[in-house]
Amino acid sequence: MKVAVIGTGFVGVVSAAVYASFGHQVIGLDIDENKITLLKKGQVPFYEPGLQELLLQQQQAGQLNFTTSYEEAIKEAEVIIIAVGTPSAADETADLRYIFASARSLAPHLMENAIVVIKSTVPPGTLEKTSDIIREITQTKFYGASLPEFLREGSAVYDTLNPDRLVIGANEDYVFEQLEKLHEKLQVPVVRCKVASAQMAKYTANSYLATRITFINEIANLCEKNGADINEVIEAIGYDKRIGQHYWYPGLGYGGSCFPKDVKELAAYSRSVGEDGNLLNKINEINKDRIFRLLNNFAREVGGFENKTIALLGLSFKPNTDDMREAPSTKIIPFLSNHGAQVKSYDPMAKYFNNPQDHHEQVSSIEEACREADIIMTVVEWPEITGFDFSKVKNEKKQFFIDARNQFSAELVKKWGYQYLGIGKR
Ligand SMILES: NC(=O)c1ccc[n+]([C@@H]2O[C@H](COP(=O)([O-])OP(=O)(O)OC[C@H]3O[C@@H](n4cnc5c(N)ncnc54)[C@H](O)[C@@H]3O)[C@@H](O)[C@H]2O)c1
Repeated sequence: MKVAVIGTGFVGVVSAAVYASFGHQVIGLDIDENKITLLKKGQVPFYEPGLQELLLQQQQAGQLNFTTSYEEAIKEAEVIIIAVGTPSAADETADLRYIFASARSLAPHLMENAIVVIKSTVPPGTLEKTSDIIREITQTKFYGASLPEFLREGSAVYDTLNPDRLVIGANEDYVFEQLEKLHEKLQVPVVRCKVASAQMAKYTANSYLATRITFINEIANLCEKNGADINEVIEAIGYDKRIGQHYWYPGLGYGGSCFPKDVKELAAYSRSVGEDGNLLNKINEINKDRIFRLLNNFAREVGGFENKTIALLGLSFKPNTDDMREAPSTKIIPFLSNHGAQVKSYDPMAKYFNNPQDHHEQVSSIEEACREADIIMTVVEWPEITGFDFSKVKNEKKQFFIDARNQFSAELVKKWGYQYLGIGKR
């Protein structure tokens, strides 16, 4: 099939490369000329395992091209996938301006019976508004659909090739059939549903996972008051098949490009439809305060951050990505700087851009970050960090080791010579 992908950000590049690998003829489009120049040269503008290789392979096979021209991308496309950003607006609703702008730009070039698919995360009602915008510009007959994306950064290529399910929201059998054909290489359960259900499914999945993280953080707070150990509690509850051992991450709260945005947007959507007391509003508030609550607790335990040198290990919002969107480090570094600390950070991939008030230097190894440290704070579970032998960098000072993702054994850290501080255990 001939496929156009609009927006070559994270989701767009991964989707374009994977659809090309299914044997479709794919063209990726973006208004960012720098991005397209890089992509045309076979370079991915961000780090994602396996993507660079797949992209080059598909470009060399002639299956995948990139352009900044809407005419070139749309005029022969049977399926047009919109994957532009939907950041949160100031009132925390989804800012749909990029979706609507792409609709205005694609409309004049539409081929008869093309399917315009929204892959971006958007609230119910968006496909209808987008279709109205297109119909104001062209008489050409087209179809609309919702195809929410569930990939995880850090394993995006694997997830797109091995999704748990495919969710297609549409109104016509023809559209379901065409979008199933687009994915026929995948052995995967397909959920054919209403457009609004598909859009709600995406927000629901992310909001549920974010709620799970918030829930276990709330329990961790209680464990800190009474001497229980959150890891033991998780093990104990996890044997209940209704609950499970997986996906419990007591820590600094959820971050990244999706969870904070999607929870905020669903909370804002709930307010817009008169459901002001919706749980998601509370989850959003608790998560916003989470890091500061923890940092204040840690400050008390280490005797304040003033004049302390702190090794901050891990800058990205999670391992295997260089994505810094809503990464904990973007809140921790300014906080520590404001409280008089000097921060030395290390990350295998991500780059932190200093604010003028930051007392922070990014260095190129764990050893260098830890050399003068009074406190080591592990923030992201990159294997290079969780597998590191910190006895090699123990200095002569009394040092604290803050295990902000509960990745280390307290006994081992104490054996290395540090005072251990974790989450949900004292
Ligand atoms: N990043 C993820 O892990 C992830 C996962 C699932 C769903 N999503 C959703 O997918 C969507 C895209 O997310 P992302 O992380 O890829 O965003 P991104 O910010 O990385 O990329 C968006 C791209 O769209 C381009 N763009 C903006 N306006 C355009 C226009 N009018 N025409 C053409 N291109 C335009 C931008 O230049 C940018 O390259 C969002 O709705 C997001 O919520 C993201």
